[in-house]
Amino acid sequence: MTERLDANAAGIARAADLLRAGGLVAFGTETVYGLGADATDDAAVARIFAAKERPRFNPLISHFPDADAAFREGVPTDLARRLAERFWPGPLTLVLPRRPDGTISDLAAAGLPSVALRVPHGAVTTELLRAVGRPVAAPSANLSGRVSPSDAYHVLRGLQGRIDAVLDSGPCPVGVESTVLDLTGTSPVLLRPGGVTVEALEEVCGPISHPDDYAHTLPTSPGQLASHYAPGLPVRLDAQDVAPDEALLAFGPEIPGAGLVWNLSPEERLDEAAARLFAGLRFLDSEGARRGLSRIAAMPIPRVGLGLAIRDRLRRAASPRPI
Ligand code: TXA
Ligand code: MG
Repeated sequence: MTERLDANAAGIARAADLLRAGGLVAFGTETVYGLGADATDDAAVARIFAAKERPRFNPLISHFPDADAAFREGVPTDLARRLAERFWPGPLTLVLPRRPDGTISDLAAAGLPSVALRVPHGAVTTELLRAVGRPVAAPSANLSGRVSPSDAYHVLRGLQGRIDAVLDSGPCPVGVESTVLDLTGTSPVLLRPGGVTVEALEEVCGPISHPDDYAHTLPTSPGQLASHYAPGLPVRLDAQDVAPDEALLAFGPEIPGAGLVWNLSPEERLDEAAARLFAGLRFLDSEGARRGLSRIAAMPIPRVGLGLAIRDRLRRAASPRPI
C-alpha cells in the first residue's frame, strides 16, 4: 500500500520517519515530484532503482535543505559558491567532486567520483529535508523513461503499490526538472537544460558551452539517454499543421486544426508552458488513445529561456524507443 500524506506537520513527520527507516517516499519539489530515499543507505537507494525500473548506471541527485549541507558531500569551487548564493534554493543541480569523507552511497553516485547536489525551493520540501537530516536521493517519481510527474496523482498513476508514501504538496510550480551543471572540469558544462535558464546562469558564469540539439549528442551525463519522458503515443516535433489522426500540443494564440488540443500557453509564456508540459503530454496521451488517435503533434517552442528545457523534453519524448 502507498500512503497519501498531507503536506502538514504530521504528514512531513511521517514522511521523514519512513525515509529515515529506509523507505521510499515521493515528495513535491518546485520542479517535479521526486522519488526519495536515504541517499546514505545503499539498500534504500537500491529500492529506488527497482521501483522505477531505472538502469543502475544512471546516478541520482541528492537533495539538501541548504548549501552548507550540500557542500559537506561535494567540494565547491568559487563558482559553485557563487551559483549557490544566487540560485539556491531553486531548480539548479551542481555536479561537484565527491568528498572522500562524504556519506552518499556508491549506488546513488553510480560509483562516479562526482556527486549531483540540489537545494530545492519550497517550504514543505525544505522542512522534509531538514527533518530527515541526511541527503535524500530523488529522481523524478515516474517509471524510468516515462513522463515525469508534476502532481501527486501522476505519481500514484505510475508508482501506486511500489512505494511507501507520497507527500502531496500540490502541483509543481516550475514543471520541468532542474538544470544540471557540471563544475568538475575547467569550465562549466550544461548537462541538462531545466528550471534555471542558461541566460540566468551565464550572468554568473559567463558563456556556457551547450550543444544546440541535445538529442543528437553523446550522453556525457548518464541520464542523457534518448527516449525519455515518453508518452505512449509517438510525438512529432515542430509541427506547423495537424493531421486528422493527431492530437495537438499547441503553443500560442493561433492553432491549426480543431481536434484534441492542449495549449501550453495561449499567451506564449514559457514559464506557463513549462508548468503545463507534463500534464499536457499525459492528457493528450490518454485522451488521444481513447479517441483512437495515433500521434501527438507538438508546435514549435522558441529556443530561448525555459524554451530550451521544454524543447529538450519534447525531443526526448519524440526519440525512438525500445520496443
Ligand atoms: O528537478 C530535478 O532535478 C528532479 C527533482 C525530483 O529534484 N530530479 C531529477 O532527477 O530529475 P533524475 O534522476 O531524473 O535526473 C538526474 C540527472 C540525470 O540526468 C543524471 O544522469 C544526472 O542528473 N546526474 C546525476 N549525478 C550525476 C553525476 N555525478 N554526473 C553527471 N550527471 C549526473
Ligand atoms: Mg527523470
